[in-house]
Amino acid sequence: IRKSLEREKELTELKSRFISMTSHEFRTPLTSIMGVTEIFKYYSQNWNEEKKQNYLDRIQANIKHMLHMLDDVLVVNKANAGKLKFNPTPLNLLEFCRDLVEEIELGLGTEQTLVFAIQGECPEAEFDEQLLRHILRNLLSNATKYSPNESTINFDLICNQEEVTFKVKDQGIGIPEEDQKQLFESFHRCNNVGNIPGTGLGLAIVKQSVEVHGGEITVNSQVGIGTTFTVTIPLYSPAAAPEQVQRPRAVCQLAVGS
Ligand SMILES: Nc1ncnc2c1ncn2[C@@H]1O[C@H](COP(=O)(O)OP(=O)(O)OP(=O)(O)O)[C@@H](O)[C@H]1O
Ligand SMILES: [Mg+2]
Repeated sequence: IRKSLEREKELTELKSRFISMTSHEFRTPLTSIMGVTEIFKYYSQNWNEEKKQNYLDRIQANIKHMLHMLDDVLVVNKANAGKLKFNPTPLNLLEFCRDLVEEIELGLGTEQTLVFAIQGECPEAEFDEQLLRHILRNLLSNATKYSPNESTINFDLICNQEEVTFKVKDQGIGIPEEDQKQLFESFHRCNNVGNIPGTGLGLAIVKQSVEVHGGEITVNSQVGIGTTFTVTIPLYSPAAAPEQVQRPRAVCQLAVGS
């Protein structure tokens, strides 16, 4: 009985976090769309095409942002139900990371720098490309979002024959110690975020995505100094199973679990 009461309490807590997140985070883009459409309605007849396009682009960007948040809600829901689809395919890690770095660089603050470094040889291995993108995009976007304008973000890709490690290090606001336990829970946001927007879903999705790859994620952080997230994903089965040497361990684990 105590267990089910606890579970009930957790669910109520989750529901209230969900309501509080949606009412906060959807209000900003909706208010912006409302404002832009009002202005459009009254003044656009005198505007040239370019200005009209510009306003429509702003509406679209806000809608995209809301769709993205809804996608995250659906993904985290699936993940919590253990129904995250895991579809590993061979991936050129280096190319993949370089493309991602380029994409993130476009969204950097004016004086933020992203330094990408590679250590070791990355053997071709299998990853779920979509989930790996979730993992790295979330960690890198957190690093930029929770860091001041003039700061450096380090993204290290470290490979050896057994595993690959991704390290994302920032010089941002840091994560208070009392929040670190709940960091990977859905909708959890730390008490030092101020008015930086966010749903608190990114890391919950990251953790589940790392786990379906058979990997692990750790965090090291100090308030006011910075944060480092480290993700390690095993590439190959232990030597004890030589017939599986060419198969990523994550695939084997999924096969066992499914
Ligand atoms: N690099 C970081 N530096 C400081 N705080 C962080 C960092 N990464 C995460 N956090 C804290 O952890 C919380 C949870 O992160 P998460 O990525 O799950 O959600 P979010 O960033 O708030 O929302 P979203 O990812 O949907 O934009 C954040 O709200 C923030 O308080
Ligand atoms: Mg985030």
